[in-house]
Amino acid sequence: MRIVLIGPPGAGKGTQAQRQGQQLGIPQISTGDMLRATRRASSALGEQLRELMDAGNLVPDELILELVAERLQQSDCASGYLLDGFPRTLGQAEGMRLRNINIDQVVQIDIGEDELVKRLSGRWSHPASGRVYHQLFNPPQRPGIDDESGEPLVQREDDQADAVRHRLSVFHEHTKPLLDFYQRWSQTGGPRFSVINGSGDLDAVTQRLADTLKPQ
Ligand code: AP5
Repeated sequence: MRIVLIGPPGAGKGTQAQRQGQQLGIPQISTGDMLRATRRASSALGEQLRELMDAGNLVPDELILELVAERLQQSDCASGYLLDGFPRTLGQAEGMRLRNINIDQVVQIDIGEDELVKRLSGRWSHPASGRVYHQLFNPPQRPGIDDESGEPLVQREDDQADAVRHRLSVFHEHTKPLLDFYQRWSQTGGPRFSVINGSGDLDAVTQRLADTLKPQ
């Protein structure tokens, strides 16, 4: 199954993609995690990515499309994938079509903005694995330490209040039109499109997502 998860920053895309990916036996492809790994590994490109991402701006479509197309060639994607945070512009959706990157279902995670701000201000992440925690809603067993590796957790630069506000405005400007596009396309033979409520506890959201991904 080839799935796209779309939602504003902090909607729970990464958290839920990791859970569903394990459940379905398909990889979670997070463009945010891939870019953070690229910026740690590369100095020239890394500097450009750092400036764009820390301010909450989008990375150019062509760069993202190249990264994703290359990742989807790997053998673990043969029976499906869960795209987390991609596509997020109409240009990326068009680029997917031109590269024959196909999808079966698009799920929008819908949630109010007050809740997003609370989630992002308490988020802690483990960069190497992409595991995410929240200091109140999903705490690690030991504060500041990843449960599985024992390595330190970090807070993201783009979770500062100004960057969060900007990321939300970028979502409204560039990604919302994509939701209308997928909704209309689903009515004329395109991928199935559904919306789930992203608020409430983690397990409840996981169940809603699993229900919407069941074959109909
Ligand atoms: P990316 O890393 O994808 O960031 P994002 O889309 O802003 O989403 P987040 O990772 O902030 O949130 P999430 O929805 O995954 O929520 P999470 O599960 O962590 O992208 C970062 C940057 O990379 C972009 O700004 C851009 O610069 C660039 N980029 C990436 N993709 C790109 C693309 N396609 N094109 C161009 N540029 C791109 O949850 C958040 C917190 O809430 C966590 O603490 C979690 O524990 C907690 N939480 C989750 N669910 C619940 C719940 N139900 N109840 C309580 N707490 C919860």
